[in-house]
Amino acid sequence: MTEKPILGVVDYDIESSNLISSQCSVSTPINVDLKRGLFVKIGSGLSYYIAQIVDGPYYSEAKLGSAPRSQYVAELSTFVENGEPRAALSRPTPGTNVERIDSNEVQRFLGVAGSMRLGSIITDPRVSVTMDPATLSRHIGVFGTTGSGKSNTIQVLMEEASKQGFSVLVFDVEGEYVEMDKPAEMLLDRLATFNMEPAGVEDLSVYVPNPCFCHRSDAVKFGIRFSDAEKGVFGEVCGLSRMEELYFLDLIEKVAAVTPESREITLSAIIDRLSTRLKGQTDRPSMPPFIAEAHTTLYSKLRLMAGQGLIDVDARGIRMEDVFSRGRVSVVDFSDASDYVRNIVMADLLDKAFRYKIAHPDTPPLLIVLEEAHAFISKEKKDRMLATLMLIIETARRGRKRGLSLGIVTQQPAHLPPELLELCNTRVIHRMSSAVNIDVLKDSTGNVPEGLWNTVPSLGRGETIISSHKYTRALSVLMRPTCSKRIATE
Ligand SMILES: Nc1ncnc2c1ncn2[C@@H]1O[C@H](COP(=O)(O)OP(=O)(O)OP(=O)(O)O)[C@@H](O)[C@H]1O
Ligand SMILES: [Mg+2]
Repeated sequence: MTEKPILGVVDYDIESSNLISSQCSVSTPINVDLKRGLFVKIGSGLSYYIAQIVDGPYYSEAKLGSAPRSQYVAELSTFVENGEPRAALSRPTPGTNVERIDSNEVQRFLGVAGSMRLGSIITDPRVSVTMDPATLSRHIGVFGTTGSGKSNTIQVLMEEASKQGFSVLVFDVEGEYVEMDKPAEMLLDRLATFNMEPAGVEDLSVYVPNPCFCHRSDAVKFGIRFSDAEKGVFGEVCGLSRMEELYFLDLIEKVAAVTPESREITLSAIIDRLSTRLKGQTDRPSMPPFIAEAHTTLYSKLRLMAGQGLIDVDARGIRMEDVFSRGRVSVVDFSDASDYVRNIVMADLLDKAFRYKIAHPDTPPLLIVLEEAHAFISKEKKDRMLATLMLIIETARRGRKRGLSLGIVTQQPAHLPPELLELCNTRVIHRMSSAVNIDVLKDSTGNVPEGLWNTVPSLGRGETIISSHKYTRALSVLMRPTCSKRIATE
């Protein structure tokens, strides 16, 4: 049986009130405490308003013979007519009853449905916020300043995606997710308020680039085969100029011509060939100096990459058939990796995951999480990292309809290429104070009212605004803590 006590009634308007047409004044006995943000029902039967308390309480002196009252301002969110939500085009008449409303009904009206448990409405904790797994068929952006709760949020999304049978691949820049197979140790009281218990994810694989350290002894070391790498991206990560790149591609062709089909082209074969060229160069003083110089700088850049201990080493690559395992979370630990290693691995795995998914459409959908995305793919690097950027944008664009979604996490949305930002249809916005970052989101996020944007600089830890095409309006959500273990990197 659901208890629906009458909380109060709608008041007569008085001249001095500042109400706007979508609001009304409600008064209650003084012992009824309605928190701001609480949803209530105004009216009963088949037609009623759903409203949210936005101001109050204000206390008025008791009139002779009557009990003292509290007054509140209620914002009329919608009018329900015979069970159907409609626009609130009128206002309830004075004396109409104000009642509690079922949290299920609020959820239904907000469009909150689905089995992925994210948290609750900040201002009405009874209302839990869930997400439909279909939301993940579009990309997700998680934004916020440092320490605002982005990593917690993306880890919650990873847990929930994995429970839904998604495969998850996360590029873990700080080594925060490598123990997700263990139960959470922090924020347990907070987790309990969401009726959830600590639990690790069931299937976790941790990978670490061959030259790097990972504190998990069972992490799988991996390398990259030069023959597999996308050469444009490879050249970019090595920082080759246009001219160096031309010589690089030419060398690959020359080496390919003398390599039997049964053998792979290796980076060291390219470097050897270049080294021979360089020796010849000293014997040919007639060669224009800029060509000689391009060869020399190409040589040092390729040597630098070879020296990273990642390319053609005696460690196997990451197998996509392992990554695309239902419900598995694969973490690539970059906490000890140089920018070179991180960038080449990210580009290589994105490329492989995309090609694998196209060739094997029946595999589970994959969520790929890119943390600190602004460092990897910023607008400023657009000219130098064009091939890498195109690879990511293409993966995002074409992957969307094919069960490959990106979770992009960044403190600096203003630095993301706009093409990528636009592809993030679902946005989880944490506290942010920089106007530049807020503005770029404002310009490209629909259905967030101005009043909500104003709250962004003052959101607390884990508090967010979520905008998604699946919700009827943007929601203020307190994210739940993770059930799985987080490694604090603060
Ligand atoms: N939903 C939440 N509920 C309660 N506390 C939270 C929540 N999310 C985060 N926190 C707290 O805030 C701290 C910072 O969170 P988190 O590491 O997720 O932030 P971040 O935005 O990823 O920070 P950084 O920019 O440093 O990566 C956490 O250690 C945790 O204590
Ligand atoms: Mg973080």
